[in-house]
Amino acid sequence: MGGATTGPRAGARAILILALETSCDDTCAAVLSRDGRVLSNVVSSQAALHDRYGGVVPEVASRQHLRLVNSVVDTALRDAGAQLDAIRLVAATCGPGLIGALLIGVTTAKALAASKELPFVPVDHLQGHVAANFLLQDPIEPPFVCLIASGGHTLLALVEDHRSFRVLGQTLDDAAGEAFDKGARVLGLPYPGGVALDRLAKEGNPSVFSFPVGMRNEPDSLDFSYSGLKTALIYRVRQLEPRELAKQRANIAAGFQLAICRQLVDRARSALEQSGLRRLAVGGGVAANSQLRAMLAKLGEESEVEVRIPPPELCTDNAAMIAAAARFLEPIAYPAYLGFDAFAAAR
Ligand code: KG4
Ligand code: ZN
Repeated sequence: MGGATTGPRAGARAILILALETSCDDTCAAVLSRDGRVLSNVVSSQAALHDRYGGVVPEVASRQHLRLVNSVVDTALRDAGAQLDAIRLVAATCGPGLIGALLIGVTTAKALAASKELPFVPVDHLQGHVAANFLLQDPIEPPFVCLIASGGHTLLALVEDHRSFRVLGQTLDDAAGEAFDKGARVLGLPYPGGVALDRLAKEGNPSVFSFPVGMRNEPDSLDFSYSGLKTALIYRVRQLEPRELAKQRANIAAGFQLAICRQLVDRARSALEQSGLRRLAVGGGVAANSQLRAMLAKLGEESEVEVRIPPPELCTDNAAMIAAAARFLEPIAYPAYLGFDAFAAAR
């Protein structure tokens, strides 16, 4: 897979980490060697199941995780050429996310760990998105700034070590991925909207319709805002006759996408300036966006900034990033973690 360090099959003495990620609508399991090689990374998407509702239905997600989780773990072990007996550490996303969905992953991981009296590592989902950058062939070393843009979060993180980060700024309303998903819905695109809007925007011209870049009048702020953009899109779409709208959909998508990406890149640039750091990493599903990737790459080419962009499959939710984070965290010994709980909100 992409730029991640997939390596030779696990040797008998390699210390293997099994990680689970079930915070939203992807059932994920991965196996990582202790030195950070991705031996398997399985993602079972529930997108088709939620499409008919236009978004993730928490109860449906939990039930589907329950149905899939054991076979996803089996596949991850099989792809890695490993048995459960070879695993030395089990990790799972413990939050933030949908509580019912999280509980399936956490409970499964704790049960697997307990069955072999293995240690368990609870991992913060956002730390996982940061840690995807530690999986690259030439992993980025702290300190660096990390832009995280996903369906539930948009923030700038100051990463000073491998275990944690400090929030420099975050969205005051919608997340960037949420803006993509809501925008896609207004344009009649299927769920999940980000990928579909990305695809449609490629056929359009971003200069035909301009959309407001949120908080442009606060250039020193490191916070984000996307709710005004969504409103602007709704008004723009309402102004067009159905036939004209059908003709202009790609142009609207391109303009809308550009406004989202501009705010992300502007804020990331400001965070680098304000922190004095020259290294930028990215994470979260929106970092899979082709335009954002191109704009970030350009930022790297035009400045002294070293920009790291993980391959798209490590930007969207996956369990390899959770295992990557677990490598640097303190494990909880058996049986102390049996009462450990998942949490829904960021803390
Ligand atoms: O990180 P992620 O997989 O899950 C969360 O933690 O939320 O991010 C999912 C979000 C969704 O809003 C999805 O529409 C968006 O990332 N996304 C994209 C692209 N791929 C996924 N947005 C724009 N362009 C993409 N190519
Ligand atoms: Zn995520």
